[in-house]
Amino acid sequence: MIELSNIWKSYGATGVLKNLSLRVDGGEFVSIRGKSGAGKTTLLKIIGLLERPDSGEVRLFGRRVDGLGDDERSRLRLHGIGFVFQFFNLIPSLTVLENIELPLALAGVDGRSRRERALELLRYFDLQGLAERFPDTLSGGERQRVAIIRALVNSPRIIVADEPTSSLDDENSSMVMELLGRINREGGVTVVLTTTDLHEEIPADKDYILKDGRLHEY
Ligand SMILES: Nc1ncnc2c1ncn2[C@@H]1O[C@H](COP(=O)(O)OP(=O)(O)OP(=O)(O)O)[C@@H](O)[C@H]1O
Ligand SMILES: [Mg+2]
Repeated sequence: MIELSNIWKSYGATGVLKNLSLRVDGGEFVSIRGKSGAGKTTLLKIIGLLERPDSGEVRLFGRRVDGLGDDERSRLRLHGIGFVFQFFNLIPSLTVLENIELPLALAGVDGRSRRERALELLRYFDLQGLAERFPDTLSGGERQRVAIIRALVNSPRIIVADEPTSSLDDENSSMVMELLGRINREGGVTVVLTTTDLHEEIPADKDYILKDGRLHEY
């Protein structure tokens, strides 16, 4: 599903990823732990086609993607990859339902189908009660669960989640982990998640630590 080979990435004089390789099979749940500044976001941006490596090869869904043009990369990103960020990124002026519909609107899905799909997902995860609320009326944990559902709405085969629990307390962190675990098990979605927490329990098939620009088994 994801194959990175010999990836190098620097910002100016700062070497971040140094000959990093990673293979993630379809349906796997992979966690990447690492200190602040270790390069976790950089790595997820390369997987999520938001950054290009300086050198090395990136393959997604069995095809080489690092050389593709921006339009093709955006298209793959919209349909193939869901993003979850540390600080939710929900749009404050839109309701929960409208936030979840947004990626469908970008994909050109009509209004009625959008609403049905967004409601179906909210119901599936038992969050339909939040549909008409605005993000600033939700708890952090609820916001993050909504952000995860939004990331799922275009049925991506990959979800990348960058420190999705780092602004949450333990109880909400476990709920978010459970939700991601369920999406992985029940939907077969490949999940790559980062955390700075060395002790957090993650329902992962593979657990790595990013250190000195490379991944090591944790
Ligand atoms: N756009 C950029 N321009 C310059 N330097 C950058 C840029 N993005 C990241 N860096 C640097 O690259 C290094 C890795 O950053 P990155 O954001 O990938 O780390 P991280 O592991 O996600 O950290 P955190 O846990 O704090 O989010 C840091 O030293 C950072 O300052
Ligand atoms: Mg980061």
